[in-house]
Amino acid sequence: MQAQIHRPTPANLRRLAAALQRGELVAIPTETVYGLAAHALDAKACRAIFHAKRRPANDPLIVHVLDLAHAEELAEFNPAARRLARRFWPGPLTLVLPKKPCVPGLVTSGGPTVAIRAPAHPLARRLLQLAKIPLAAPSANLFGYISPTTAAHVSEGLGSRIPHILDGGACAVGVESTVLDITNPARPRILRPGVVTAAQIQQLLGVKVSGAKSRGSRTRQLAPGMLERHYSPRTPLVLRRPPAKLSAGVAGVLLRQPAIKPAKDVFWLSRRGALTEMARNLYDVLRRADAGRYRQIWMEPLPGDPGGLATAINDRLKRAAARR
Ligand code: TXA
Ligand code: MG
Repeated sequence: MQAQIHRPTPANLRRLAAALQRGELVAIPTETVYGLAAHALDAKACRAIFHAKRRPANDPLIVHVLDLAHAEELAEFNPAARRLARRFWPGPLTLVLPKKPCVPGLVTSGGPTVAIRAPAHPLARRLLQLAKIPLAAPSANLFGYISPTTAAHVSEGLGSRIPHILDGGACAVGVESTVLDITNPARPRILRPGVVTAAQIQQLLGVKVSGAKSRGSRTRQLAPGMLERHYSPRTPLVLRRPPAKLSAGVAGVLLRQPAIKPAKDVFWLSRRGALTEMARNLYDVLRRADAGRYRQIWMEPLPGDPGGLATAINDRLKRAAARR
């Protein structure tokens, strides 16, 4: 069985909302990346997510809700978390908070906290309105591979493993949400960098925000979702500026379109070098380079912007390039 790709017509949205209520899996667009959604309060449905993605059970899921009021039904909010939700939701900020008993342990990998966010994508929001249930949704890719930013990406990886994909076009942001542990409001901690930056959070809350560092062994999980190797193409990725002349079998990924006529093995993230465009194109470019049967992909990391979007991109690149 191959997944059906649904256009976002009102009738299809109603059908997919009903499928989610019944416990079926639906891949949905969000503003960051596509998510593989299931009824978050239905443990059996959530188990199917882990199975479809081949995701280890110790990597917890993000729960998607319409707004703060719905989030408060699932997690114990503190005043700082409420301020963050009011300022950044709907949008690409995931808050980690103590879970309420109604959230199945499977969703949180047995842990006492739940990760929660209100997505901004109009189709994700429409499905949440129609289904009237919270949706657990990790990125809709096979575990460890590059996250999907189009319905075609989802279909390539999961097409034979899930029944439905909602096609909402390409994702506007292109990298996953910022994950912030706000269980202790005096010490917020970024677990995964994203578009919402440490500086923005710090400015709103008036307390220092720490960023997560991944160190230690390659396979040991320091905190959920902090695997050193993740988001990886099958082709070895080398984080080095590609030379003007590439050796045979090597693909080069540039940050911006080269001024000279580009060669066949050269890819680039942005025409003019705009950061938001680089983020939006990152996963599609890596997937295209990966499909090209190269020996290696060489790509230069972005110039740093402490805690900003380039940091998020470089974080993903570092994990994508980590050795097996
Ligand atoms: O932008 C996004 O966040 C996308 C879209 C679909 O919303 N979702 C996404 O999900 O990237 P996923 O599962 O690929 O990444 C979620 C991250 C994982 O690294 C997971 O370990 C972490 O969030 N996470 C989930 N629950 C957690 C918890 N209770 N404590 C700490 N980290 C958690
Ligand atoms: Mg993921």
